[in-house]
Amino acid sequence: MEMMKVDTKTHDEKRQGESYAGFANDPNVYRKLFYIESYGCAMNFSDSEIVASILNEEGFGATRDYEQADLVLINTCSIREKAEQTVRKRLTEFKKMKQAKPGMLVGVLGCMAERLKAKLLEEEKLVDLVVGPDAYRSLPALIEEAETGQKAVNVLLSRDETYADISPVRLDSNGVTAFISIMRGCNNMCSFCVVPFTRGRERSRDAFSIVQEAQNLFERGFRDVTLLGQNVDSYYWVDDARNETVTFARLLEKVAAVNPLLRVRFSTSHPKDITEEVLHTIAAHDNICNYIHLPVQSGSTRILQLMNRTYTREWYMSKVKQIREIIPDCGISADIIAGFCTETEEDHNDTLSIMEFSRYDMSYMFFYSERPGTLAAKRYEDDVPEPIKKRRLQEIVDLQGRLAFESNKADIGKTFRVLIEGNSKRSDSDWMGRSSQNKVIVFPKNNRPLKSGDYVMVKVTDCTPATLLGKIMED
Ligand code: SAH
Ligand code: SF4
Ligand code: F3S
Repeated sequence: MEMMKVDTKTHDEKRQGESYAGFANDPNVYRKLFYIESYGCAMNFSDSEIVASILNEEGFGATRDYEQADLVLINTCSIREKAEQTVRKRLTEFKKMKQAKPGMLVGVLGCMAERLKAKLLEEEKLVDLVVGPDAYRSLPALIEEAETGQKAVNVLLSRDETYADISPVRLDSNGVTAFISIMRGCNNMCSFCVVPFTRGRERSRDAFSIVQEAQNLFERGFRDVTLLGQNVDSYYWVDDARNETVTFARLLEKVAAVNPLLRVRFSTSHPKDITEEVLHTIAAHDNICNYIHLPVQSGSTRILQLMNRTYTREWYMSKVKQIREIIPDCGISADIIAGFCTETEEDHNDTLSIMEFSRYDMSYMFFYSERPGTLAAKRYEDDVPEPIKKRRLQEIVDLQGRLAFESNKADIGKTFRVLIEGNSKRSDSDWMGRSSQNKVIVFPKNNRPLKSGDYVMVKVTDCTPATLLGKIMED
């Protein structure tokens, strides 16, 4: 799943003058202000929008300036040790601020809250609230408790919470792309992964509420939704009233049917679960994007077994082959871990060669970080020395750079339908948009009457390793 750090403050400068839902410009509407910062995957970012919605109902308005806030929240990630260290550092900064402003409350949300529970209160004395991912509905009560000077904790995991009825407040939105959470938790037990412990059992959200959220976003001008789950292919929901079973393929169809102008994406697929039916569904709908994030983790069957990924190298390769057959112009990306327990040079070379075979357009690449409590931490020794892990990771990163550049160069001369997301980062006279394959394309505006959320045909004329450069096709 996509990794990101969303810091409402750094986005501030770019968005001056625009008005955002949930941001408090009217002190009469909101009695207090909260500030929220999110780390980790898209799911966490999406959860922060649910939290914002719950807090708005309680009279809390969002602010991008944490020095103004009565309540500072940090939505945390535990996936690697470094992710937790980043949060710890940030907490130290909040601590200084709290000394100057004693009434301010600091809350830790998300995966680190769930993993460390009340222990976090002992380790980080400034923290007033610790709230796990399934307990956000209890935030108002917990805040009230904390306001009396008590420490407040709720880290209960749920079997059925999906926040289906909560309409998320879009924080820091570009007004074009949005995430829709379709399921929570994970039932896979990849041996390296902390997510099943921090997010609990897998559960799917009511399909009606998903379609309704997509419809609502479309009406508000959004044109690209990403359906989120740790393992979207195991989405499964039964509509008792109509006696209908909604699989992931059916859900994709339903969301695509909202409007042909709404692009539908999803993340993340587990290679063992993505079905041929899903591939045919993508191929059959123009507005379901030709892009699949298919984390491989390793190219060695032996390592994959230790990781408990339940597929082999050959199985993964046959999936990639099948994708290329059914959706010939499909973008494919991956997550890759370097230096898992017992990994040899030969295993590492298997990872490099499966990357070459898959020709990934993009990858998220990490070196293995042992997480307490996971199967791998209990069973296997973290025995690849750090310099070797880092060297192998660098080889993976270098290879991915070459593959992405090759993939971009192969697009020169082709024309893509691009959804405009906004100004290019470098220049206000260029647009930035993405193709169905999820590639970023930058092109001159050329005084055309276009705006964010519009589609335009763009011919690729050049590229960098990371970006396609193009020009608008004349009609
Ligand atoms: N549900 C998604 C992954 C979510 S975590 C899936 O199964 O594909 C995102 C990525 O973080 C994983 O795909 C993996 O590559 C990486 N990751 C997870 N645990 C890790 C660990 N202990 N060390 C290093 N990378 C890890
Ligand atoms: Fe973690 Fe595996 Fe679940 Fe992904 S599928 S969240 S890697 S346990
Ligand atoms: Fe996401 Fe990090 Fe939790 S990747 S699910 S926020 S551990």
